[in-house]
Amino acid sequence: MAFFSSWACVILGCLSASLTGASNLSDLYPPLWEESPGQFSDYRMKDGQYIIDAWIYPERMGMYKILMNQTARYFEKFAAENEQNILWGLSLHHGWQYHTGRLADPTRRTDCGHKSGKHLCISVDSWWADLNYFLSAIPFLAAIDSGIMGLSPDKIILLPPSKDQMKFCYNVSSCRSSFPTAMKKWNEFYQHVKSPSSSFDDLLKYLWAAHVSCLDVARKSFHSRLKYYPKPEADFERSWALFVDYLSPTLFPTTLIEVYEFQKGQPPRMLVAGDRAPFISDFTNFQNIVLLGVNFLHKVHKFTGTSSFTVWKTLMKIKVARKLFLHILEFILHAFN
Ligand SMILES: *[C@@H]1O[C@H](CO)[C@@H](O)[C@H](O)[C@H]1NC(C)=O
Ligand SMILES: *[C@@H]1O[C@H](CO)[C@@H](O)[C@H](O)[C@H]1NC(C)=O
Ligand SMILES: *[C@@H]1O[C@H](CO)[C@@H](O)[C@H](O)[C@H]1NC(C)=O
Repeated sequence: MAFFSSWACVILGCLSASLTGASNLSDLYPPLWEESPGQFSDYRMKDGQYIIDAWIYPERMGMYKILMNQTARYFEKFAAENEQNILWGLSLHHGWQYHTGRLADPTRRTDCGHKSGKHLCISVDSWWADLNYFLSAIPFLAAIDSGIMGLSPDKIILLPPSKDQMKFCYNVSSCRSSFPTAMKKWNEFYQHVKSPSSSFDDLLKYLWAAHVSCLDVARKSFHSRLKYYPKPEADFERSWALFVDYLSPTLFPTTLIEVYEFQKGQPPRMLVAGDRAPFISDFTNFQNIVLLGVNFLHKVHKFTGTSSFTVWKTLMKIKVARKLFLHILEFILHAFN
């Protein structure tokens, strides 16, 4: 174990050095981070409530930016510049969705999110955008609910999208009544964030539990969106959601540098008919292999009738096995990047 740990430190050291040596951590931030609201007063206010339109990219990103700002003080003890804040994963992933065109209207009935049209618009018909709503609005509102943001829960309201308004929630009290489990799990996470005795792995455990509980709600609700996509993209969406289920018990550390490195393996654009990993010519080897791997995992999962997941979860409960897996993943990231 000591051997693996020291090996991982060397690799991690290289990862951080290659990045911080060459540049500055703010280069890793998601697109339009600078331009997004960074405090409540950057949003409009009406009748004493801040109003957020989560269907506009910078406004949704602003929720993450405030969350990062308000939680930074609890992650200082792990590293400087908020680098070890494990909430980075959410905002970086949303940034990837934006710059790969995944927040755009897949039906093309509107120009929402398309480069030629309202490029900052987030389409309610986008499967990615709908799932991400549950991983932005809920963590944000639960943070307010937990008291971590220093804002009274009745002071904030989100605007509904143009359709399917009943599938979402818009303020602390309505989210608590519509999605009680997800709100509770995020609240638990923030209570542990606030507690000085929580270890880094403890926080990851509560973060992943909250993450998966949001996905459980959202996935069922937006399954019907998959039909809007070309087959390779729809298959990738199914496989990706499953991949996240498998990643969860590994407690992958969703810090700034880790997620940034990991993202280099994700598809850099929407998949179209004819895309077949590992033979997509405008993808890097790493991107082709990740896509192949994620789709393969879906096949294995279906073939074994989900018992592969049970085995995996059991295996990942063994600390040595879990650490070993993370070290191998680290090694792969380093080898490709
Ligand atoms: C990092 O980049 C930002 C934005 O470009 C700049 O404001 C900041 O001064 C830089 N920090 C360092 C330490 O170079
Ligand atoms: C949080 O935001 C405020 C206001 O924009 C800023 O002055 C402060 O430096 C930020 N704190 C951190 C830790 O980023
Ligand atoms: C929260 O939303 C519910 C349902 O939309 C609404 O009835 C309630 O008045 C809202 N509460 C606040 C404080 O805005």
